[in-house]
Amino acid sequence: MSKSWEDWSASEVSQFQEDFLAWYQQEKRNLPWRYNQDPYRIWISEIMLQQTRVDTVIDYFYRFMEEFPTIEALAEAPEDKLLKVWEGLGYYSRARNLQAAAKQIMKEFNGQFPTTVEAIRSLKGIGPYTAGAISSIAFKIAEPAIDGNVMRVVSRLFCIEADIAKASSRKVFDEAMRTIISQDQPGDFNQAMMDLGSSICTPTNPQCESCPIQQYCQAYREKRQTEFPVKSKKQKPKDVYYVAGIIENKQQEILLQQRPETGLLASMWLFPLEEISATRFNELREQYDPKAWDLFSSSQVAEDSPAFFPEQAVIWQKKVLGEVKHVFSHLRWHILVFYGRQAAPLTLEGHWVKPSDFSNYVFPKPQQKMLEVFENNLADDKD
Ligand code: ADE
Repeated sequence: MSKSWEDWSASEVSQFQEDFLAWYQQEKRNLPWRYNQDPYRIWISEIMLQQTRVDTVIDYFYRFMEEFPTIEALAEAPEDKLLKVWEGLGYYSRARNLQAAAKQIMKEFNGQFPTTVEAIRSLKGIGPYTAGAISSIAFKIAEPAIDGNVMRVVSRLFCIEADIAKASSRKVFDEAMRTIISQDQPGDFNQAMMDLGSSICTPTNPQCESCPIQQYCQAYREKRQTEFPVKSKKQKPKDVYYVAGIIENKQQEILLQQRPETGLLASMWLFPLEEISATRFNELREQYDPKAWDLFSSSQVAEDSPAFFPEQAVIWQKKVLGEVKHVFSHLRWHILVFYGRQAAPLTLEGHWVKPSDFSNYVFPKPQQKMLEVFENNLADDKD
């Protein structure tokens, strides 16, 4: 494979950096973690930005800084408070790793954020991308920060054929980036790459006509922009099917269950869920179709349990309240939501909670969606 970055002369590299950094100076977005070079702020922002869009991150970032203004405050925070602030951002292990790393900094680094790439890499939850971003932005170390956006830009700039879905391709991009990164302003250079990737050098329809580095771009010259990056297909997320029960007792409390301490959505609270087969899911959806609600004239109550749970302990309403879908990186959840009233003691573990107290519990996205389905139904019933 040709390494076309090796063909660039030193003056070409510096002209490129000058043009690119001038563009960034002009166009850079005014983002709260760009106000100063505080490594703590940069670290938190980079972790939030890993799987979440900039627009969404901004509010979470402010809130997080308000609640946990220092590394020490983060290290000492109760976990449920931390997760509450993270609620809705997803990938909750990020928040837990942040706290583990904050404790590590307090213990191993005397409370001071470490200042070398190796030491930063040793922190929990920090891989090569985050270490590159923090060390370049906060400490002006000429370390590349290579994420999907940057790989797309660089693959086009040099017509790199390496498959970006493969971990082994990283070193090619690392080598190319080390050739072109600015030694004086590596943080700005890395962020210019990120901004270009999100605004101009986009996955489809890149805006090459307004690109500040068009004249350096090999893919543009060869009219091959759309051929890059090369990316093999990801495995599709696996479909999993559930019924959820919103069960109310005589005190108008609703049952919430806590997930196990490890694994997906660890320690978070949801309405009780039971996994069912795809076939059963489709049967239930048809049998209890809310659009057929009027047809159930004789009774509003299901004769046999549409859901799970100890037989007869819950009287189930005879319609699906709604359907919730939620996609994780590797799983796609499909949930049919049912409502029922408790009729006899239940052996299920959980907390009976008044809806006005739900805000004391950490609800992941799928739970928020189920709650929305429930609230919409309540609103419908009042019509
Ligand atoms: N995405 C990841 N890190 C970023 C940053 N520092 N600025 C803008 N977008 C980003």
